[in-house]
Amino acid sequence: LFSAVEMAPRDPILGLNEQYNADTNPNKVNLGVGVYFDDNGKLPLLQCVQAAEKTMMATPTARGYLPIDGIVAYDNAVKALVFGAESDVVKSGRVSTVQAIGGTGGLKIGADFLKKVSPNAKVLISDPSWENHRAIFVNAGFEVSSYAYYDAEKRGVNFDGMLASLNAAAAGTIVVLHACCHNPTGYDITDAQWDQVIAVVKAKSLTAFLDMAYQGFGHGIAEDGAVIGKFVAAGLNIFVSTSFSKSFSLYGERVGALSVVASDKEEASRVLSQLKIAIRTNYSNPPIHGGAVVAAVLNNPELRAQWEQELAEMRVRIKAMRQKLVDSLKAAGVKQDMSFITTQIGMFSYSGLTKDQMVRLRSEFGVYGTDTGRMCVAALNSKNIDYVCASIAKVI
Ligand code: LMR
Repeated sequence: LFSAVEMAPRDPILGLNEQYNADTNPNKVNLGVGVYFDDNGKLPLLQCVQAAEKTMMATPTARGYLPIDGIVAYDNAVKALVFGAESDVVKSGRVSTVQAIGGTGGLKIGADFLKKVSPNAKVLISDPSWENHRAIFVNAGFEVSSYAYYDAEKRGVNFDGMLASLNAAAAGTIVVLHACCHNPTGYDITDAQWDQVIAVVKAKSLTAFLDMAYQGFGHGIAEDGAVIGKFVAAGLNIFVSTSFSKSFSLYGERVGALSVVASDKEEASRVLSQLKIAIRTNYSNPPIHGGAVVAAVLNNPELRAQWEQELAEMRVRIKAMRQKLVDSLKAAGVKQDMSFITTQIGMFSYSGLTKDQMVRLRSEFGVYGTDTGRMCVAALNSKNIDYVCASIAKVI
């Protein structure tokens, strides 16, 4: 049965974790996967999460099946966070939100549903994009190609190219957009550029699928989320996948969501019924714990304020690390101007290092980043940064 089964390549991101874990270099540093570590190199367990869990543990509950679309209080909290509790779109019942297994789960449920709604549509992802975007939509049966995004020479977004790609797309094309903190490049488009993208999406009847995995890591929760309001104001039917892996440091709980904006309440209930089929046929219904924790935090004003504070601390520390990275690279003897690192945003820096340089960083120094040159700035700290910079200086 399996004699012809080919060995699949290692996952370009999570596969690095396996390699990192097996590495015996005592100085090894994992800048591969997008995970935030504090200045002591520890994965944080947020205070707001601990407080919510303490309350939950005080009154233990049995674990029956959740509804297919998840915890109602969670879905409503996600709607409020993503669209605004008082927004017309939420109040008029036009948003269908389902709990999903991480942001990846939200993307997959959305992709499966879209395959039913628009079976012949093509999918466009940014060039480059998060490695898993292509695989998720290909596995859902779509043909995936890319729209122009990164301009390596100018170190920024090739916005004219992006608009040209979108303008050239056939009506009905599904466009996967990074709502904030573009992964992997760290370059976002401006507010005014979003307006232009939205105008093209509308004029060309494209379907926008916004991946919101890093809300709060750019400029702030509301600031990063504002782009969603722009799409809604334009009267578009959109998809939004949400992840709380990073913003709640709940990676292993797989807490995410998918929200779909329909044209009216009745349409939204039909959409929801189809999302439930997609969930039921993939994994039946979501797990309880992570969603219950996030709902408890988002729905309690005190815990919510604490979360915002803790998220802000992560955001500020990453920004400080960007500056430190620029300074330490210079101090380590890197001649080229690396100040572009501070104009990037979110967890990642697209360093511009080649695949060969990234492989050398791993094999000679135990410094792990992706082959594309992406490094997770959120895993740098005051203890490992000099070693990382000295290593980079040796391969540059
Ligand atoms: C990343 O890009 O490193 C994260 O989103 C983790 C993942 O699942 O790839």
